[in-house]
Order: sequence, then structure tokens, then C-alpha cells
Amino acid sequence: MKSSAIAHSNIALIKYWGRSQEHDPYLNIPSHDSVSMTKYGLIPNTHLETHTTIDFSDVHKEDTAFLEGEVLTGRKMERILKVVNPLRKYANIDRKFKVMSRNDFPTQAGLASSASGFAALAIAAVNAFGISFSKEEISTCARLGSGSATRSIHGGFVYWHKGNSHETSYAEQICGPEEFDMNVVIALVHEGKKEVTSDVGHESAWTSPFNDVRTKKSQGQAIEIKNAILNDDFSKVGRIAEENCRYMHVVMMTSDPPLFYWHPDTLRLIKSIQRLRKESLECYSTIDAGPNVHCLCRPEDTYELQKMLEKMKFVRKTIPAKPANDSCVTKEHLF
Ligand code: PMV
Repeated sequence: MKSSAIAHSNIALIKYWGRSQEHDPYLNIPSHDSVSMTKYGLIPNTHLETHTTIDFSDVHKEDTAFLEGEVLTGRKMERILKVVNPLRKYANIDRKFKVMSRNDFPTQAGLASSASGFAALAIAAVNAFGISFSKEEISTCARLGSGSATRSIHGGFVYWHKGNSHETSYAEQICGPEEFDMNVVIALVHEGKKEVTSDVGHESAWTSPFNDVRTKKSQGQAIEIKNAILNDDFSKVGRIAEENCRYMHVVMMTSDPPLFYWHPDTLRLIKSIQRLRKESLECYSTIDAGPNVHCLCRPEDTYELQKMLEKMKFVRKTIPAKPANDSCVTKEHLF
């Protein structure tokens, strides 16, 4: 009972931030819908993906998990069990597992390693048990590990319905990777691990007086951006994504305790991107729970934009990316 999967990370265009107060926080049900682009890195060996192998066998005397060779314990292991245990129960199989996982990009730096990580885990575990779930059903399994992983099951552009139960909070594809013309260039200003993970950050979103405003606004923006994607309207997608990102960071900064994911260079970059847009090339910024900036652009401008960003002395590294295909099972096992 061994299976492997490769899943891609995603960048949220409409951000999920904070769990719904009306449901058990264990379920990671959000308070509004969200939208993302699943990413495929255009650098050899940096495709922004997680490769995971899981093996259920009587040989394993206990459940064990390794990420980049490090044994996972505590909260990290709990999150893996949140995904695997319901599937073990569903399949009515009592075997212990060993899981190994590898990312080809920096972990916990706001590049959504938990999204690709839990998406790969859910796909591999479902396949190991031979359960015939739809992609939408697999997305609900991935959500239990990390909300954003819900969207990483699909490639291209993805819509996560907040729903009102475990079964109805799932992601579906808006359109495939070839159907909307947009790429991103990720500009890394800082590669260290963040101090507060999004898993913990979600807990304080409701304490910001601006969170209700953001929630209502985001719900409308999710529908608006979905239509803009379907109408191939890059400018509108960029404008809405930038605005939605600002709303989320205002909530983070005004929560109790306040969360500052930005680095001083993050703001420098936001302003530089505004300037680039005015003077040379249409591009927009968006930032997840970390200091690094995703710069949205038209595919034909990707490498020109990358060159411009690399000229900025506070940008340490860039990673261009295009919309990815669906995350999937692979025959290549890590052990
Ligand atoms: O899936 P989590 O718990 O890592 O939360 C993701 C939060 C953001 O990346 C900031 C936004 C999003 O929708 O991906």
C-alpha cells in the first residue's frame, strides 16, 4: 500500500484568512470563498512542487513522517494525522504509515509549502487505499491539513467554495492552465522561516475590527475575479488581487496580537511594482503570509519583468512561474 504524488503550490488571488466562527475550527472552513492560481516554477529543479510518498504496512510499528529528512512531531504530525486518520477509517484499514516528503522550494517562506504539502499527502493517501474519490472530494481531505491545500488539488485557476460543512467546503477548477493568460514572478526578499505560521495566524483574524469588512468584501471579490478570469481580463484580475491582498494584511496588522508578515523590503517592492506599472509594464503585486512578493503579469512579459525585478538590489532571487497542471499521482517513490 504505497503511493506517491506530486502537488504544486498556489498563490491566492482572493485570500483565505481566518476560520469561520460558525464551525469547528478543526475543519478549516473559511468565512468566505477564495481563488488562486496553481503554480509551476519555470526554473529547472524549482517547479514549486512537493513530492510525497506514503506507505501503509504492518512493517511500520508506529506512524512516522519526514519532511526534508526531518522527523515531524507535535503540531506538524497532528496535521498529517488530521488528513490520514479519516481516510484510514473510511478504508477500514488499521496499518501504520511512513510518509516522506520533499519540496523543491523554500519551506514556510510564504510560498505556500503547506498547500502543496497537504495536497500531495491527500492524493497519495487516497490512492494508497484505492479509494475512488473525485478531485473535489480529495480537496476536502487536503483542507483538513491546510486550508490553502484545498485549492492545490487542481491545476490552473481554482475556486474554493467556503461551504457550510466538511463535504460542501471544496475546491473546483475555474479554468485550466492554458485558458487564462497570466504568469507570476515571485520576488524573494527574505528566505528565512516565518515567526508565526498561517495555521496559528488564522486564529486571531476575528480580533481585528476590520475583519468583517474584509470578509464581506472578499466574498464579492471572489465572484468578481472568477468572472474576470473567465473573461480573460488580466487588468481586472490584477486590480482585484492587489486590493484583496491589502485588506488581508490590514487585518493581520490590526489583530490581537498583531501580525507583521512584511519585511521593510516588501513595502519597497510593492511601491516599485506600482512604479513599473505606471512607467513600463503592466504588473500587480500580491503577498501571502510571508515577506515575499508575487508579481502578476502577462505571460509575454514574464522574463522582461524578471529582469527588472532582479535589478532591484533588495530582491535576492526571482522565480518565474506559469499556471500548473493538476496535481497527480506519480510512480516515482521517495523510498
Ligand atoms: O492554508 P494555510 O493555513 O497555510 O493558510 C493560507 C493563508 C494565505 O496563504 C495567506 C492565503 C491563502 O488563501 O492561501
